[in-house]
Amino acid sequence: MDYFELRNGELHAEDVPLAAIAAAVGTPVYVYSRATLTRHARVFREALAALPSVHIAFAVKSNPNLAVLRLLAKEGYGADVVSAGEMHRALAAGMPGADIVFSGVGKTPREMAEALDAGLGQFNLESEEEGVELAALAAARGQTAVATLRVNPDVDARTHAKISTGKAENKFGVAYDRAAEIYARLAALPGLAMRGLAVHIGSQITDLEPSRQAFTRMGALMRVLRGQGLTVTHMDLGGGLGVPYKASDVLPGPEDYGAMVAEVTQGWNATVMFEPGRVITGNSGVLITQVIRVKPGAINPFVVVDAAMNDLARPALYDAWHDFVAVRPSGERMIANIVGPICESSDTFAMGREIDAVKAGDLAVFRTAGAYGATMANTYNSRALVPEVMVDGDRWAVVANRIEPATILAAEHVPEWLD
Ligand code: LLP
Repeated sequence: MDYFELRNGELHAEDVPLAAIAAAVGTPVYVYSRATLTRHARVFREALAALPSVHIAFAVKSNPNLAVLRLLAKEGYGADVVSAGEMHRALAAGMPGADIVFSGVGKTPREMAEALDAGLGQFNLESEEEGVELAALAAARGQTAVATLRVNPDVDARTHAKISTGKAENKFGVAYDRAAEIYARLAALPGLAMRGLAVHIGSQITDLEPSRQAFTRMGALMRVLRGQGLTVTHMDLGGGLGVPYKASDVLPGPEDYGAMVAEVTQGWNATVMFEPGRVITGNSGVLITQVIRVKPGAINPFVVVDAAMNDLARPALYDAWHDFVAVRPSGERMIANIVGPICESSDTFAMGREIDAVKAGDLAVFRTAGAYGATMANTYNSRALVPEVMVDGDRWAVVANRIEPATILAAEHVPEWLD
């Protein structure tokens, strides 16, 4: 459920007409709804209410905007970060270091040191080598790094191959069969306090069975470790719960996920941790775009919009579907290809899709763009970096400026020896 609705024939974010934002800020522009973000954060937490001890670390990568992070900090969320850059954002948003989890397969020694400086709550180790390195670094500084071991459960999440992470051939975590031995070795190192296991099998998961299977395997491993006298107080189950991108999508919601987790983790006697991203932010944002022109095509017309794959990469990268709806729909429909201005054919949002009829100058939105939207934007074709706005009732604010090509140009230099 979200708060983007037609009112008097015009699409609004909460009480603000999207056309007013487009007129003031220009297009393309991302718009987030505070009420939707807050609602999703609370629904997810409430879905886990049956668990005795829970920590929720928002996956910053899905939407790292500072205002979004501040909102979630106020909801009691911590952060799951995968770089020092994300860590500094979470800290800047007011999240305590202790509530931040550091994931990621390639933490550099420098990033580890910065995280130790910040008093980070937990490192999710992706390999034995990383654990040995972190232990040495922490010990040399007279510190103890708190960590979990990320395990690859060899489970197929049944999602897009590019966002699947839990199969044996994926780069993430340590092999399930070697996990107990590695955990024991790391637990013995000075400088490291091993406190649990972590798993994350993929993103946009629309079927709970693979997660149930993965979590069950993790529970079994936890018992093996405890049986060997090792400490396991925290179990990080990652993120991954999918969201509906089409009105017709039927998928499990947070309540179903929460019920499954409660069942699997019964008797675990551990703090269960979560790293949700998309389920919090996905349907909390739209990308407003303006139609530049409509040109004929061999089969269907091309609706050329001013947003492109540099602003919203998901359709080009994962063939992802984002609903396209007019800001002031006329009631008429058309079948069209929706494309951006970038000079490659992958800059295509949809082919042969039935949409609201639009013409040059009309405004429209791509829906469900709050997760992995602005965060994956770039400046390809020397386009601007897309701005972001947050709406709250009848007020709104720019929460990320448009970065103009001139600003980026100013950061480049021609060495004198070229002239
Ligand atoms: N935890 C870890 C360790 C992760 O790698 C991820 C996402 C998450 C949590 C959050 O997953 P979520 O709840 O958002 O599914 N750019 C892709 C998605 C990449 C996801 C990467 N990892 C997309 O646009 O679909």
